[in-house]
Amino acid sequence: MARILATGIATLDIVNEVSSYPEEDTETRALAQRISRGGNASNTLCVLSQFDHQCYLAGVLVDEADGQIVETDLAHYQINTQFCPRLRAGKMPTSYITLNRQTGSRTIVHYRDCPELNFEQFQQIELAHFDWLHFEGRNLAELTKMLEYCRKTVPNIPISLEIEKPRDNIETLFGAADWLFFSKDYAETTGHQSAESLFATLPKNCSATCTWGASGAYGLENGKLVFSPPVVLSRVVDTLGAGDTFNAGMIHGLLTSNNFADSLHFSNQLAARKCQQHGFNQLLKSL
Ligand code: FRU
Repeated sequence: MARILATGIATLDIVNEVSSYPEEDTETRALAQRISRGGNASNTLCVLSQFDHQCYLAGVLVDEADGQIVETDLAHYQINTQFCPRLRAGKMPTSYITLNRQTGSRTIVHYRDCPELNFEQFQQIELAHFDWLHFEGRNLAELTKMLEYCRKTVPNIPISLEIEKPRDNIETLFGAADWLFFSKDYAETTGHQSAESLFATLPKNCSATCTWGASGAYGLENGKLVFSPPVVLSRVVDTLGAGDTFNAGMIHGLLTSNNFADSLHFSNQLAARKCQQHGFNQLLKSL
């Protein structure tokens, strides 16, 4: 069991399930609705906690009714929130998600008007306490300082950085982490038709993964490309948080097996499993 700190966000997710993705300017009746906790860092931790790791979130929470829903779920997964500043006023960031029952695709409209964790707050955390530090690639001005600080104060603790969306100058952080977890969306938006093409642009000695949706997942270690073929799924019901689950699989795999290719295959399977169920509950039930 390891102690893992994830820095990023928790959100309220309002998920509407629809029979097919709606046309613009039409009205659609949702088949089902669920309201749950989300956010990449907290989703990743909620999977890691199911592997019995001790999970700590570093992200801002808001003391209001939706914040209570988020906190209750974090507590359900035994995710420690002692490093989360709690704002007395404001609203939790909220995602309005359309989940297509035909394909399991999730379309997210995210609204936030809430400050992110800043470097000063991050500095209060006793980093030496942890075995792994994971970061969402967001809030770049503060994140840059956090990563530099980690390297200076705890150079031996592994750092993973999720690169899900293109953000101004995010490439400057590629050398600041041990493991980079890319999304297909990032690769495509930055002009790459393949993970291999993205990997070719990375600084030397980078270790990275890039998920490629239904086409499997790719990894780069010691300059070598590793491919994990797609898992054949009978049914895809919910892809929300599949990437976050994949990242949790990598962290768990690297912490326990220390073998990159095995971790990549394991994460690919785990993310596929997630796509076959709603939410994250009991993800490891029959693993
Ligand atoms: C899924 C997710 C949702 C959240 C959104 C934030 O990866 O973390 O739970 O609402 O992305 O971008």
